[in-house]
This record gives sequence, structure tokens and C-alpha cells, in this order.
Amino acid sequence: MTTSAVDPELLPRSSRIAPDGQFSVGGCRVEALAEEFGTPLFVYDEAEIRGRCREYVAAFGPDSVIYASKAFLCTALARLIDDEGLMLDVATAGEMHVALRAGVDPARLELHGNNKSDAELATAVAAGVGRIVVDSHDELDRLAASVPVTGPPVRVLVRVTPGVDAHTHEYVTTGADDSKFGFNVANGDALRAARRVVDIDGLELVGLHCHIGSQVFVLAAYEAAAQVVAGLAAEVEAATGVEIAELNIGGGLGIRYQSADDPPAIADYARDLQDALRAACAAAGVKGAARLLVEPGRSIVGPAGLTVYRVGTIKEIDGVRTYVAVDGGMSDNVRVALYGARYEAFVPTRAAAERERIVTVVGKHCESGDIVVRDASVPADLAVGDLLVTPDTGAYGYSMASNYNKVPRPAVVFVADGRARLVIRRETLEDLVRLDEDPEGPGAGG
Ligand code: LLP
Repeated sequence: MTTSAVDPELLPRSSRIAPDGQFSVGGCRVEALAEEFGTPLFVYDEAEIRGRCREYVAAFGPDSVIYASKAFLCTALARLIDDEGLMLDVATAGEMHVALRAGVDPARLELHGNNKSDAELATAVAAGVGRIVVDSHDELDRLAASVPVTGPPVRVLVRVTPGVDAHTHEYVTTGADDSKFGFNVANGDALRAARRVVDIDGLELVGLHCHIGSQVFVLAAYEAAAQVVAGLAAEVEAATGVEIAELNIGGGLGIRYQSADDPPAIADYARDLQDALRAACAAAGVKGAARLLVEPGRSIVGPAGLTVYRVGTIKEIDGVRTYVAVDGGMSDNVRVALYGARYEAFVPTRAAAERERIVTVVGKHCESGDIVVRDASVPADLAVGDLLVTPDTGAYGYSMASNYNKVPRPAVVFVADGRARLVIRRETLEDLVRLDEDPEGPGAGG
């Protein structure tokens, strides 16, 4: 357990700690952001997001990186990602809607999903979405029925499960034989699906796709997946005569949540994956150019975002534990309750302070599992009214947020060059009844 000040490695790149201990990001003092926008507040360092996008594009090449929008999506982010030259992976009508409304070229979208509805498929086909990743035989039937007789072919990738263990949490493992995602390679289903795509008029088989899991630290897991996918690509080419143009290995690169975490660097991950795929394609005799694509989510936005809370109550239970309760919780970060995720915390008004006190940071929801940081190191003088920051909450925090206990969802700001931009406003209490039957209408007061 650390007692030192927060590790700079956990902070986004534009972070600064002033001599008076005040923490700022993007040139904005976090205390001032909390005053202006309220708490809880998600703050994203634009320079960190852009920097990570550029590292990915430099490592994998142009038109090879597709941002997985499930990690965090709003109009401003879709535009920023597009501006940096990444494509966007959308997995539902909702994600597709946000990306299209933001002005992203449909040809630069990729539609995922293990249970795409007829409406989702029809919207994607009509909009001219650049890639549809098919996930089941049922979906192929429905896609075949919705493809127009004339016009350019619908570009399709076949999602496969390579039977690889990603060495990560069971709930975020997706590449095993026993999975709701994709076609099984081992039992021949993946090959059958690829043949069907080739046989259906109006569909073009662009490539194969796999995603083995998320928060992955073990590069060997990707190498194993690359081998299976390359082997399949060669089989598909032999069976259909179609050259495989794209091999998409999905996302999943892990990030640092705590000082002890040591994820691979983007450049090392890219080099390993490229080498592994090149070797595997050569060994399997893949004929096509088989370009490598990746789909990072967490490793683009995770380290760029942080959450600012205010401490409302501190409860010391002698000889048991100290509970520090903040004004958010599992409604803005469900990852702790869901996966046992671990974070760190620091006080942004005393960011250089030693953190020698161990407490449990909890939220304001009506369950004991509503934990924000288990065994957090905080300054000894932490008090009610202090701000508390959890860094590295940029991925799967806001995107998995809920209104549990009718808690309005926080605001989100982007900071850069001393300016803060509100990209998602805080929900109001009125927003919470917006979908209800009219409280003033028939039946009211009955
Ligand atoms: N591609 C596909 C097909 C995916 O399903 C995912 C994530 C990604 C790419 C992006 O993976 P990333 O680079 O973000 O690891 N809610 C969980 C993570 C679920 C990931 C689901 N799929 C969490 O908070 O850990």
C-alpha cells in the first residue's frame, strides 16, 4: 500500500501540481472546475486523447485504427476521434446515431453487435456504413434479405472466436469457444459463415474479425489469436477464392489503474501484433495483403479521464474501517461492483500530500457494494467538503452510468490550453421524469 503522493504515471499528460499543491489538467485548476460545473464531474484531457490517437495511428498506420465507442461516446468525442483520423466502431443503433449525428462519414463506421435488429441492419445498409461485422447465421439471413439489389456491395467481416484465453476478468473475455460472440473457428462455423458471405449477392467479404477480451496485459494472447485467424484466412481463401483484405484483431489493450499495473506500451503492442500476424500469415500461406486493423477503446480514453467527487460524510468505525462517502458512486462507475476493479484517489487541492491514511471510498447508493475505491490511500487530514479525484476513469465510467436511486448523471468537460468545454451537461431532476407519463396529466392527484 502506497503512502506517497499520487503517482504521475496515473495522471493525464497535461496534469500539473502547483507549488501550493493545487492540481490542474489541461491548464484548468480542478478546484475551479468543480466550482464551475459541480460534482461529480468527469474531466477529460484532450491532449491525452489526441496523443493516444496519434500513437495508435503512428504505430498501426492510417485507416487501421477503429475507436471502440462503447468505452465513451458523445458528439464532441466522435468529432475529436474523426479529426484524429480514426474510424469508429458502433455496436448499437444508439452509438450509430450519435456518430452519424456528429457528422462522421458513414463509410468510416463499423457496425458490431451479437444481436443486431433488422432496423439496425437496415439503417446501416441505407446509410452506407463501411463495415458490418456479422456475428451469427441468423444475422446473415437477415442481412441477405435487407441488401439492395443495386448499388455498391455491403462490406462484411466475419467475427470469429479463436478459442484463446485472454487472461482477464471472466466478464470481459470474449475470444473463448464458449462465447455469445461470433462464429466458432474450431467447429468449422467460421469457415461456413465466410463461404455464405461470399455466396450472398450484394455482400463483399472484406475480412475476419476477432476480439479476445478487454484490459489485456498478456501480448502472447494476441499472438495466439493472430495465428488462429491467419490459419482461418488461408482456409477461407482456399475455399472461396476470395483474398482476405483485412484482419481485425479487436481491441483490449490494458491500461494502468494503479501504480503497480504495468500495461504494454501501444508501440510495443503494435510491433508484437504486426510481427505475429506477418509470421502467421506467411506460415499459413495467406495470399491477400491482409492488413491488420485494431479497435481500441479503453486505451484511448481511459487514462485521459478522471472523476471529481466531493466528500460528504466520513464514518470511522473504530478498529474496523473508515468509510469516506462521496457524492457519486456505482451510478458513475459500476466497474468496482461489477469486476472488482481497483482505482486510486487523491485530493486535488493537496495533490502533493503524502497519503498515509487508508480508507474505503464509497458512494451514496443504497447498497454495500457501492464502492468507489477499496483501500484508498488518502491524506491524513482528509475532511468533509474536500474534493477527491479518481484518475483513469475515462473508459466505461460515463458510458456505463445509470440513474440508480434516481441520481442524475454527472457533467462531462473537455479541458485543453486553459479552457474547459462542457461536452455533456449534468442531468437535472427534471430530466429524471422526462420519460414518465405527464405528472400533471390524467391520473395526477387521483
Ligand atoms: N472491439 C470489440 C468488438 C469489443 O467488444 C470491445 C470491447 C472493444 C473492441 C474495445 O475493447 P477495449 O479496447 O476497450 O478493451 N465494460 C468493461 C469492458 C467491456 C469491453 C467490451 N468490448 C470494463 O469496464 O472493463
